[in-house]
Amino acid sequence: MARETAHDNERAIALLGLQPRDRVLDIGTGHGRSLSMIAASTAGVTATGIDSSDVMLAIATKRNKALIRQGRVHLQKASSDDLPFAAGSFDKAMAVHTLYFWQPAEPHLLSIARVLRPGGCFVLGFRPAEDKAVTEQFPASVYTFRTTNEVEALLVAAGFAIADRQRRDISGNSMVWLRATRT
Ligand SMILES: C[S@@+](CC[C@H](N)C(=O)[O-])C[C@H]1O[C@@H](n2cnc3c(N)ncnc32)[C@H](O)[C@@H]1O
Repeated sequence: MARETAHDNERAIALLGLQPRDRVLDIGTGHGRSLSMIAASTAGVTATGIDSSDVMLAIATKRNKALIRQGRVHLQKASSDDLPFAAGSFDKAMAVHTLYFWQPAEPHLLSIARVLRPGGCFVLGFRPAEDKAVTEQFPASVYTFRTTNEVEALLVAAGFAIADRQRRDISGNSMVWLRATRT
């Protein structure tokens, strides 16, 4: 999975516009490849990954062993609808290929808005429901796909302003990245 989604995560990280000393949260980090990419991209940045799966956390911990020892990467078990961090703990946050598991999505987006500082940036990367070839590939009992318009409306309702939207329109492999600012 780490290789499959590497480009999607690289693009999300580029959209974060990282600055030295940024505190970055990766929600549903899975294998944690994005955490080492974030830490490597900009000096002084700290990357925190959360995931609800013990198995994925073990993989992410192994992958980031040296960076964890250096205090540049942190990993924690948590669910995105109940993030165990104080309000305004992060400057930037991202979630790639995680939105499908949020049903309903509202508590997750509100929880992310809470832990971001005002003016902070959130990048959400997902396969959009308008690509019907995508929705047919995955079981509806597990995955919820939403249109780009639906996701934008959810973000605005949770206290974000849409700052940028990027797309990859390839039938069966479409992708949307939304960059939103915490108002
Ligand atoms: C499809 S993987 C994506 C991993 C990585 N972000 C990527 O782009 O390759 C989704 C990850 O989100 C995690 N996840 C799903 N729902 C979650 C939730 N509510 N809170 C935290 N993690 C969650 C899963 O355990 C899994 O590791």
